[in-house]
Amino acid sequence: MLTLGIETSCDETAAAVVCNKEVLSNAVSSSIRLHSRFGGVVPEIASRYHVEYIGYCIWSALKKAGVGFGDLELVSVTQGPGLMGSLLVGVSAAKAISLSLNIPIVAVNHVTAHLFSNFLNGANLKYPFVGVVISGGHTSIFYVKSVLDSELLGQTNDDACGESFDKVAKILNLGYPGGPVIEKRAEKGNPKKINFPRSYLGDSLDFSFSGIKTAVLYYVREKEKKGLRKSDIDDIAASFQEAAFDVIVKKAILACERKKCSTLAVGGGVSINKRLRAKLGEEARLHNIKAHFPEAGLCLDNAAMVAYAGQLLFEAGKRSSLDFGAFQYCTDDN
Ligand code: KG4
Ligand code: ZN
Repeated sequence: MLTLGIETSCDETAAAVVCNKEVLSNAVSSSIRLHSRFGGVVPEIASRYHVEYIGYCIWSALKKAGVGFGDLELVSVTQGPGLMGSLLVGVSAAKAISLSLNIPIVAVNHVTAHLFSNFLNGANLKYPFVGVVISGGHTSIFYVKSVLDSELLGQTNDDACGESFDKVAKILNLGYPGGPVIEKRAEKGNPKKINFPRSYLGDSLDFSFSGIKTAVLYYVREKEKKGLRKSDIDDIAASFQEAAFDVIVKKAILACERKKCSTLAVGGGVSINKRLRAKLGEEARLHNIKAHFPEAGLCLDNAAMVAYAGQLLFEAGKRSSLDFGAFQYCTDDN
């Protein structure tokens, strides 16, 4: 089934064409450089960028896939969660395409869509699985039995994991987004140098990342009194990253054990991080759990995951009518 996916929930304008489990094109245009001097995404800038680039992205996705509008059989779009102004651009474009081509439209939840990246391009993920979404807006654990049946097992009570990377990078004056630069600096640092707190919250599957961010802030303030060296920043990045990932790894394995599930799928922007992949992959192996990670181009926000999730929902009988709204907070029932 030839599906056009559209994603505009935050700062990536994205369109992709997916046919069954094969990604034929995956166009992403990011407004990230426009936000970096503000240290985070500015909603108004993001939505104006989407308006400007959504058309180019859709044309580019169709061209790269070698198909025309007339070949499309389904359009699938992120309904939420995300920034309201940004979501509206994608939802409006998708509705216009559905109406003018007279093809069905399916509204998709962005968070769970991240997990479905693990089915694409020859990957062999099978249901049921424990899914961990680690992104800039969410850190959530699900038990997924099918595209229509996922149970939320835990989520963050405050900052998302990616958000804590962004905030720590801001404290260290490393710019936005924080994830890639923290990962890079961490490669040169000592992860055991500073024992930042790990918030395990007992045996809960919920997360809390605000404490570790504050601990980094206080540590940096103290260090700055004597002067913060380049190697100090590397050590802080490595020690912070290690503490954050210790918590993720422990809870991901705990969720698999609780659900007696030996398949784990990870998704979201942070899942591109090599240290996370190594730590989680190794711990999963020790517990006889098979860990799946999306290919690099499908970790961060993209429309291929949205196209595929929409295709699965369509095959399971879901159809959205043209009057659906965009949602800042979105469950799969919307
Ligand atoms: O999934 P995503 O593209 O957007 C949301 O749905 O939020 O994730 C973006 C997040 C940002 O917080 C960014 O700092 C983080 O993913 N990120 C990383 C890395 N690359 C991006 N975190 C850790 N290591 C990375 N290499
Ligand atoms: Zn995302």
